[in-house]
Amino acid sequence: MLPEGTVRASLGCGNPVAVAELRAGETVLDLGSGGGIDVLLSARRVGPEGRVYGVDASPDMLDLARRNAEQAGAANVEFLHGTIERVPLPDRSVDVVISNCVINLSGDKAAVLAEAFRVLRPGGRFGVSDVVAAHVLDEQARERAEQRIGCAAGSLTVQEYRDLLAAVGFVEIAITLSADHGDGVHSAIVQAVKPAIGPGLEIRPMHESDAAEVLAIYQAGLDTGQASFETTAPSWEGFTASRLPQLRYVATDGDSGEVLGWVAASRVSDRPVYAGVVEHSIYVHPGCQAQGVGRALLEAFIAASEDAGVWTIQSGIFGENAASLALHQAVGFRVVGTRERIGCHHGVWRDVLLVERRSSVVGGGGRFR
Ligand SMILES: C[S@@+](CC[C@H](N)C(=O)[O-])C[C@H]1O[C@@H](n2cnc3c(N)ncnc32)[C@H](O)[C@@H]1O
Repeated sequence: MLPEGTVRASLGCGNPVAVAELRAGETVLDLGSGGGIDVLLSARRVGPEGRVYGVDASPDMLDLARRNAEQAGAANVEFLHGTIERVPLPDRSVDVVISNCVINLSGDKAAVLAEAFRVLRPGGRFGVSDVVAAHVLDEQARERAEQRIGCAAGSLTVQEYRDLLAAVGFVEIAITLSADHGDGVHSAIVQAVKPAIGPGLEIRPMHESDAAEVLAIYQAGLDTGQASFETTAPSWEGFTASRLPQLRYVATDGDSGEVLGWVAASRVSDRPVYAGVVEHSIYVHPGCQAQGVGRALLEAFIAASEDAGVWTIQSGIFGENAASLALHQAVGFRVVGTRERIGCHHGVWRDVLLVERRSSVVGGGGRFR
């Protein structure tokens, strides 16, 4: 049993601990921990080898939470004074971020989600309860809901939440509506994953400040003669003009921040029927090949594309590029044909294998797997 004061102080809108599937030994962060109920529940799940942090801006709530922890005899918890927009924990320091009815209160939700992404280790899970709007609310509906339940004034729509999570780099995004509070306002469980990659590496969305490194890796790939018919990397303007902004990722060295590889995609057609069909390119720094960077980038890209409603990812691979073909086949691409001697490259007419990956969760692709 938790101390009665902890339960009474609970101001949540769901049970994030129940959906976070916490495992023994994990490190958990609760954003806006209030009286500490979810920290104490998590502390039991992660056991003595694990650790649970609560962050809250209110000194009174921190005092209450610390008293509650003492009463519960919880030794593996720590309550930190700070804001959820600027979490006082280092990068990649927690396995799971939970939160219960707090993110909707923030005036800068993009910063909150970016902080959650920053403090999570690669492969880490985000699982929060929050209040969301099923659709865009008019002012009157928002006010009515706010008067009924509070926590509705600043709530995001489901689509806004998805877009913000994807923009900071989360994948496998799932938003499940639970209690219906009327006027389109719901409690919800929001889940997402920080892409997994090898130790010391990170995958995040590509930024403009990555331009020089991205283009240098592109050029190095073209110089091998095995990546593309192109021989010269485009300008940054040329690169970004044709590529979808929400489907560009880089893999970076977690310590130095150096870009080790990138993946990006373009639409294959403006026709609505092909809205979920994209063509991708992936390039890994020549010094970092065969270290899992390409696979991690591709897996993150596939998850993000499915989140964005893409049902087919296609590309062309030179027949001689066995490493690229093997990598793509390992993550579910299949060869759909060979375009024989389709183009002349440095004086040689070359074959291109057309590969594609049909999603088993988006569109009609299930029958192709
Ligand atoms: C609705 S209560 C929820 C508390 C707790 N999660 C629960 O379920 O009982 C909101 C809590 O978030 C804290 N809070 C609100 N905005 C915050 C922010 N920007 N940074 C840190 N804490 C915040 C408040 O101090 C309060 O303790």
